Amino acid sequence: MQSIKSVEHKDQLVTITYADGQLNLQVVTPQIVRVQRGPWQAGHSYAIAGDKVQQAPYQVDRGSQEVVVTTAELKVVVDDAGFVDLFDATGALLVADFRGPRHALARDLSKQQAALAVAEGHDLAKAEVGSANEVVKVLHDHEHLYGLGDKAGFMDKRGYEYDMWNTDNPAPQLENRTRLYKTVPFLIGQNAGRAYGLFFDNIERSHFDLGKESSDYYYYTSKVGVVDYYLIAGAGIPGVLEAYTYLTGRTPLPQKWTLGYQQSRWSYGTEAQVDYIADHMREYRLPCDVIHLDIDYMDGYRVFTVDHDHFPRFASQLADLAKKGIKVVTIIDPGVKEDPGYHVYDEGVAQGLFATNTDGSVYVNAVWPGDAVYPDFGRAKVRDWWANNVKFLTEKGVAGVWNDMNEPASFKGEIPDDIVFSDGDQPSTHARMHNVYGHNMSRATYEGLREQTGKRPFVISRAVYAGSQKYTTVWTGDNHSLWVHLQWSVPLLCNLGLSGFAFAGTDIGGFGSDTTPELLTRWIEAAIFSPLLRNHSAIGTRAQEPWQFGKQTLDTYRKYLELRYHLIDYLYDLFEAGTRTGLPIMRPLAMHYPNDERAATINDEFLVGEDLLAAPVLTPNTAERLVYLPAGEWRDFWTGQAYAGGRSHVIAAPLDALPLFVRANGILPWRPLTQYVDVASETTLGFKCFGNAGTYTHYQDDGESFAYENGAFNRYLVEVKNGAATVTLTHAGYAKPYETITVEVADGAAQTLTYDAATGSYRG
Ligand code: GLC
Repeated sequence: MQSIKSVEHKDQLVTITYADGQLNLQVVTPQIVRVQRGPWQAGHSYAIAGDKVQQAPYQVDRGSQEVVVTTAELKVVVDDAGFVDLFDATGALLVADFRGPRHALARDLSKQQAALAVAEGHDLAKAEVGSANEVVKVLHDHEHLYGLGDKAGFMDKRGYEYDMWNTDNPAPQLENRTRLYKTVPFLIGQNAGRAYGLFFDNIERSHFDLGKESSDYYYYTSKVGVVDYYLIAGAGIPGVLEAYTYLTGRTPLPQKWTLGYQQSRWSYGTEAQVDYIADHMREYRLPCDVIHLDIDYMDGYRVFTVDHDHFPRFASQLADLAKKGIKVVTIIDPGVKEDPGYHVYDEGVAQGLFATNTDGSVYVNAVWPGDAVYPDFGRAKVRDWWANNVKFLTEKGVAGVWNDMNEPASFKGEIPDDIVFSDGDQPSTHARMHNVYGHNMSRATYEGLREQTGKRPFVISRAVYAGSQKYTTVWTGDNHSLWVHLQWSVPLLCNLGLSGFAFAGTDIGGFGSDTTPELLTRWIEAAIFSPLLRNHSAIGTRAQEPWQFGKQTLDTYRKYLELRYHLIDYLYDLFEAGTRTGLPIMRPLAMHYPNDERAATINDEFLVGEDLLAAPVLTPNTAERLVYLPAGEWRDFWTGQAYAGGRSHVIAAPLDALPLFVRANGILPWRPLTQYVDVASETTLGFKCFGNAGTYTHYQDDGESFAYENGAFNRYLVEVKNGAATVTLTHAGYAKPYETITVEVADGAAQTLTYDAATGSYRG
């Protein structure tokens, strides 16, 4: 751009006019500034629900060659050439536009060589280049880049390129895979202890090159749209995440049983098989809350039907399972079988609810049921219809819905770009609506479950867009039973957490390929704090239930499921805190140790909240491992042994061991072991203090309804001083406070406190 002509501002919108264009800065909150080139358009966002602009004091200063916009938390400097730089409140640079020329990535390949390579079947990388919407930022030497949902590979995305185009490709993923199932164009940079966020709220196909083309810069590009993104500053990664989730929404408080263990398989396809799984869980004393029904429970893969030949008493079977504390979650794909006479298809055709060809005829591709049509979820009318269909499941006692194939998948080749899908009430194209297909489907499912059950909806989705966390939990799609995919499970879940998706999991044991007893054992250890805890495997692979591999595997598996159930209140407390802070359950060390360069790229350890550090073994035939403990003092969870932080330790880790550390004086809630989550019969809770002084805040509610929104919850403050424990009810709104609370202190005897209803307090 060329020299600033004028600067105006009104209602937090700063308009900078250049001789050859316009740049707008909108102060959304003191931490968030939206940057947009061209005539200002507020536009519609799928990620952001409602108007998020908060009244915020800000100042606009015009210098000789720049404009400076300052809020309480940040400063944005826009220069004469239109370059935009972000600084924190202390004036330290967070991220700057790159001013030099870009240079093409050297591939050193002639046309002839390329033709040969392609002839042998090589897939030559083709970056999406040349765009209307391109943002190039300086990459600092020690900068680390995180986020982007669950892209292939490890924690730090620096040096790689990624595409935003939701894709279903079941071949084993390696880190050269640029696109997976999700589109979350949100990036966090951390450099010299300072963090910032960039959110490109663009649903169109887009591309990130994070320092592959050059070590000096990284860029975002999309062929469609104008430069339009959010700059986010905050106190470290937690501050950035708080602001980002303020903008796009936070993972809502889930029903408590959804944190229990879930057993799945493609497919448990008969009533007898499902009962067999439930009975074996109980017989082997494997705590379990959920069994998943994959596509074979349906009649010919027709959504919202049940195969009555194989499930002759579906609703009463679910009622029987419920008595054993087992809930059923069913899969629902978007593809509706093209089948005149099938009511879902007929209704959709009659009411014009499916995507169409440009001539208006219904578009047909294929998914599991063969030829299938695609609900046009961008329209409210279609979402309402879908939400209403969910009743078919809830009436039968289904407790949650697992949405799959919603990239959307299409077995007869890619859906052409021009197929008509709606953007709200306006006809649009597949090209535009592709990346929000799963988002809109999840929303419809969420709304249906909420309306019909009045409970907190449990939706799982494979494809999502930024902000889908408001409606759905996610899993990372079709991994394989490979050690590398176990290794990835930690960075994938940590990056999802840094992308707003606090509730996420991987297919434990691996989906494709055959697992081994050792891999499954290490996977359950590594996954035991995954918010979504589900073992799932593909059709035709080796059976993967925990009892299929002999006594040692079964015993170890049980040991970790028991650990999970003891600690469910810790996870639930973190979820509740996350509804206020946006912070995830599983966290990379980089989040709480921003100045620790070693913490920045750790892929094989993670924090659960702030106080628990897990260092699972992720390689075969390993009996010990190096564990890096960040600054502070730590205690071995199992033995209580003290370890100094700021250095690494060699920790023994035979096959049944998960190295686990608690920050000194950390307190963890510890519930009595049960075989499933049964909130109604909770009468007592324990706490373990890993020291003799500390505080902890615990949250309790009915675990399923929205009554907590009106204050129906209890909050407890647990304090340990010189080894003596006190418990105070700081908020009393849920009618069933614990009758007793037991606090174990590191070097002392357990203390039991009893609730005194008369005074509403706990006494020793
Ligand atoms: C997809 C899903 C997988 C599911 C299968 C059959 O591959 O990712 O989880 O089991 O479809 O429904």
